[in-house]
Amino acid sequence: MKVIYTEKSQLLAARTAQKLGCKLSNVKYTTFPDGELYVRVEDLDDEMVVVASTVDTTTALQVMLLMDACEGKDVTLVLPYMGYARQDKRFNEGEPISARALARALSEGASRVFTVNIHDPSVLNHFRCPAVNLNVAPEIGAYIQTQPVENPLILSPDIGAWGFAKSVAAPFGWDCDHLDKTRLSGSEVKMAPKHLDAAGRDCVIVDDIIATGGSMALAASMLMEQGAKSVRAAGVHGVFASGGYIKLMQGGLADVANSDTIERASSKFSASGIIADAIRK
Ligand code: R5P
Repeated sequence: MKVIYTEKSQLLAARTAQKLGCKLSNVKYTTFPDGELYVRVEDLDDEMVVVASTVDTTTALQVMLLMDACEGKDVTLVLPYMGYARQDKRFNEGEPISARALARALSEGASRVFTVNIHDPSVLNHFRCPAVNLNVAPEIGAYIQTQPVENPLILSPDIGAWGFAKSVAAPFGWDCDHLDKTRLSGSEVKMAPKHLDAAGRDCVIVDDIIATGGSMALAASMLMEQGAKSVRAAGVHGVFASGGYIKLMQGGLADVANSDTIERASSKFSASGIIADAIRK
């Protein structure tokens, strides 16, 4: 078995390969003079693992080319972060279900797909082969344990992520609650002041995606107003669009962390363990 990667998932691919005890195959990435993408997998095997977060349009196209290069092989496609997954419905007439379009296009030729904390697991039904969503919650919990927090209160910014927050908190017996967020637009959210007993507590807000950071920033300011001792943010996928990371740091958070599904300096815990375990199984 060989592991290949897109340019933006090199670290996670290397960590996954190391945990699987298998080799990485070099992939050459370049462009033709007219700007079209060129990829070449230097060493194909009968079993291939493609590790590729579709963080942008170029990467999504690279994945399609890699899948085609692996034609005829047994291919496991790992999409640690799947871009476009939030457009999982036709919200308005004339819109595509982008998550479905991407799932179909990328999984052509795959034997199985793994995602990590995908925004809505219903997207898994759109892949052309069996697809399983993995939960990085144990790694987040382990990371929180390394932080200077005492009996932390784990919170999700909305009820939708509450199940995820519970999966972070439960193994450690930590308290867990949720705030009530309403999304007004792609970049605006409002949060109803739900009373949480946050006074004097070390709070950690967890979510699947930190996109613009708006949800986390608002949740953090509410908790601070309620007298929280400290507020931290831990998201699975650190997108940080429109200066999202800066927004959080300026908001007074004690720590902002995310996994390596999107590789950042703030990637303080890794999804490689759960990915390697799933592939091994
Ligand atoms: C959406 O419901 C997700 O779970 C996240 O809460 C959302 O993507 C966060 O977006 P932002 O960081 O822009 O508030």
